[in-house]
Amino acid sequence: MKSLVFAANWKMNQAPADAALFMRIFLGQYTRQNDRRVLFFPPAVSLHAVVDAIHDRADLQAGVQNIHWEDSGAFTGELSAGLARGAGARFVLVGHSERRHLFGETEADTAKKVAAALRAGLTPLICVGETLPQREAGETLGVIRRQLRAALDGQDAGVVASVLVAYEPVWAIGTGRTATPQDAKEAHAALKLELRELGGGERSGAIPVLYGGSVNRSNVAGLLAVDEVDGVLVGGASLDAEQWLAIVRS
Ligand code: PGA
Repeated sequence: MKSLVFAANWKMNQAPADAALFMRIFLGQYTRQNDRRVLFFPPAVSLHAVVDAIHDRADLQAGVQNIHWEDSGAFTGELSAGLARGAGARFVLVGHSERRHLFGETEADTAKKVAAALRAGLTPLICVGETLPQREAGETLGVIRRQLRAALDGQDAGVVASVLVAYEPVWAIGTGRTATPQDAKEAHAALKLELRELGGGERSGAIPVLYGGSVNRSNVAGLLAVDEVDGVLVGGASLDAEQWLAIVRS
């Protein structure tokens, strides 16, 4: 049986009180399952509400949605990996398409953020994905392999085995359009091959590669049925506790 990861990306939603209420409803109904982990990525101001609720359980963990690549200093408005770690985060999203496309994050930036996360003891969840024009031009696999390789540039083989990866086609995020299980299979297989080549070797087989982009309670089972899909990264459908419970139970 494969080990699954369900990650909730709340983006710019859920104030501390909303996050605390969400966690009360979720924890009231969620029974631990040994084959899965549930990760929460609240906005940074609500991290403490999630961390307090989960009490560092191994099957439930929290992360932040972004970090700066420097460890400290005069960077008004930014959050370092060390600050996030000190506030209870264990994970960080790096290279989310909204960071790349709305905030101009480059592939070189993703590499610096991965390095900063690892220095501070945060596990990076590296997000990659092609745009619609790239898909239509047949460039999907080349683009996502290049993004993954760039994010891990300069890391040793041993480190590669400790990251998480998410395939999130840009055209599927927040649009209601999901990749077919066959699209996901091809993309995930290409990413797994790239992880192997990057030095994860045999151990790379254990690196979770999640699918993200308009995942909901109706389509999640079909995606998880694909051998190469080790979990899901969910935005919109993770904001409602009942829908999120249905997803993590699938
Ligand atoms: P979505 O977002 O589920 O709302 O499409 C996914 C993501 O951006 O991680």
